[in-house]
Amino acid sequence: MIVGGGGREHALGWALVKSFEGRDFYFVPGNGGTITIGHNVENLKGYDEIVKFAKEKEIDFTVVGPEKPLVSGIVDKFREEGLSIFGPTKEAAQLEGSKAFAKELMKEAHVPTASFEIFDDFNAAKSYIEKNSAPFVVKADGLAGGKGAFVCSNVGEGIKALELLMQERKFGEAGDTVVIEDCLKGQEVSVHALVSGDKIYQFMPAQDHKRAYDGDRGPNTGGMGAYAPVPFLGKVQLSEIKERIFLPTIVGLEKRGIEYKGVLYAGLMITRSGPKVLEFNVRFGDPEIQVILPLLNEDFLELLLRTNEGDLPDGIAWSDQSAVGIVVASDGYPGKYETGFEIVICDNSCILFHAGTRIENRVLYTDGGRVLSVVGVDRSLKKARDKTYKCIEKIKFTNMYYRKDIGDKGIKP
Ligand code: AMP
Ligand code: GLY
Repeated sequence: MIVGGGGREHALGWALVKSFEGRDFYFVPGNGGTITIGHNVENLKGYDEIVKFAKEKEIDFTVVGPEKPLVSGIVDKFREEGLSIFGPTKEAAQLEGSKAFAKELMKEAHVPTASFEIFDDFNAAKSYIEKNSAPFVVKADGLAGGKGAFVCSNVGEGIKALELLMQERKFGEAGDTVVIEDCLKGQEVSVHALVSGDKIYQFMPAQDHKRAYDGDRGPNTGGMGAYAPVPFLGKVQLSEIKERIFLPTIVGLEKRGIEYKGVLYAGLMITRSGPKVLEFNVRFGDPEIQVILPLLNEDFLELLLRTNEGDLPDGIAWSDQSAVGIVVASDGYPGKYETGFEIVICDNSCILFHAGTRIENRVLYTDGGRVLSVVGVDRSLKKARDKTYKCIEKIKFTNMYYRKDIGDKGIKP
């Protein structure tokens, strides 16, 4: 069973279903793409109903896509019932659930990250901003669906962000505490690692494109496209990321009596003085995992089971190809957008992971902001990018929008 209904969950299912031939496969709630490889279960409300369903159906193994259920403790609930599930416990998921928790831990463990201060009082935060020089970043402590970080280039913008979070409470209690940190410059990359106790195995790096418009302009989104691997990140930097970021973070958790089992995703800024952590996520990246999984030459299910058993392999086999994944969205996303438009797809040269789609009477309709992740795999990043854009030209729906520069930073670093 896979919990979630986006492009990431379709990709997880696509990779896992290969190991489950002939078995029942459930997506809770799933989307218009997952229904072609399993059953969508749309009517479960809350984690108690999901647990009940898992018991009734005798689900062998559950993988959780989004952060919210992990931060709320779905893994603890499953384990209490003796059900097998992949993901960190509620305590360990604080690494994503509370930016203040993650920053304090990184400070203590000497993990490179932007300098910061934490505030739960509006006036104290405001006077800190007034005294310090821009640019800086204001972040909601709690979960805000990727929309809780504000890169501010002057005091006015900083105060506006504080008002939105702490006074208007746009994200509810998630913004009652804020982290204000220095603005880092460099290239952003996403590195995932399977973590099992003190053992870790890093995946190949990917680069997401968080802003809505070309040239990294416009509002932050969940991610408008990604590619893997990242040509400007070499072996030396990857081992530095393991030694200076992942391992000390796990030791820092252990010091608090917390064992981490699952995937840990570090959002990094590669600065002139080395990689620094922007944020930790306790789940697979969306749309990063859509480009990583097609390059994995291993049984994905076995890797997840081995993580749970504390038996991580020493190495993982990867394809030597590149993958580019472009998110096709509804115009207006991440703000207001319309849905319910018919989607026509006339090309099958790429992998299509569905996100905001639904099927009704055999017709596919748009049903969300991010509609599809179109993934092309080829010998080089450039070939993969060209293949993906060519495929997108054969996809049509009203108000379709996508970025035209996904992968460019890897092709011309
Ligand atoms: P977060 O939710 O913490 O990952 O922040 C969302 C996005 O804001 C990141 O992907 C970055 O693009 C940007 N961002 C976050 N923190 C910083 C920082 N300290 N310096 C520069 N950009 C940042
Ligand atoms: N693509 C960013 C994320 O999954 O958080």
